[in-house]
Formats: sequence, C-alpha cells, structure tokens
Amino acid sequence: MERTFLMIKPDGVGRNLIGPIVSRIENKGLKIVGAKLMTVSEDLAKTHYGEHSERPFFGELVEFITSGPVFAMVLEGENVVEIGRTLVGKTNPAESAPGTIRGDYGMTVGKNIIHGSDSVASAEKEIALWFKEDEIIDYSLVN
Ligand code: CMP
Repeated sequence: MERTFLMIKPDGVGRNLIGPIVSRIENKGLKIVGAKLMTVSEDLAKTHYGEHSERPFFGELVEFITSGPVFAMVLEGENVVEIGRTLVGKTNPAESAPGTIRGDYGMTVGKNIIHGSDSVASAEKEIALWFKEDEIIDYSLVN
C-alpha cells in the first residue's frame, strides 16, 4: 500500500495547528499509521533538504526547521502521495488555493506550515529517514 510523509513545521506547531491539520487529514479519510512530535537535528534537516543544499535559502531553511518541534506523520492509502499533496497545496502559500492547508494558514514560502512528499520515491526515502519501522503501525479498523 502506498505511503506518504507529512510534517507540520515549527510555525504550524507554534500556531496550534496540529489539531486542525490532523482533522483535515482524518476528515478526508486518510489513514495515519505513524505520528510523533519531535525536534529535528541539524543532520536530519540537512539530509531531508539535501536537494536544496546549493540554494540561497538553504541555511535559513535548516535554521527554521530546527527552531522548534515538528509533528511528523506517515499516511497510508491508495494514491496517498497525490492526495496528500492536494491537501497541503502549493509550496508558495500565496499561490495555494483556499481550502488547502497552505492556502488557508500560510503567508510566506519560508514558513509554509507543512511539508508533504512530492513523489512515491521521495515518500519512501523520507519515511525511512524520519521513522523507524516499529514506529509505523499496521492496523485495520472498521470505518
Ligand atoms: P517544503 O515543501 O518543505 O520543501 C522545501 C522547502 O523549501 C519548501 O517547503 C519551502 O518552505 C522552502 N523554500 C522554497 N523556496 C524558498 C525560498 N525562496 N525562500 C525560503 N524558503 C524556500
């Protein structure tokens, strides 16, 4: 079954948006199979955002993501990478439609509330980076 990685960034946690964002995920019908509040080490931040290491905003990005706790999640379901991206919205909140998480809560590209994997391949890499296998729960509930 397909999985994706979502992470509420320090601005989202600081603005008490864990509950509203998790509600959107649950209301949509997505299944949360892993979730944790955690601080991010500089090493983890640099590895996660490695593809941006040459960009001028890289230092700022690492500083921001390590500045306070994040809420990391693994979601599972058919087509969940694309559905997760749709819920999250575009990278720049200014271009993100109302109804999306970034469109409703974000103002700037640097502080855009939440990260979501952009492909099945990056989801696999990110989940392996952020979660141990025994932190992901295999379950099925009647719904
Ligand atoms: P995210 O989806 O977590 O992946 C890469 C992040 O880089 C992105 O969200 C933005 O928060 C950040 N980012 C992209 N472009 C810029 C920019 N021009 N200035 C600052 N941060 C940026």
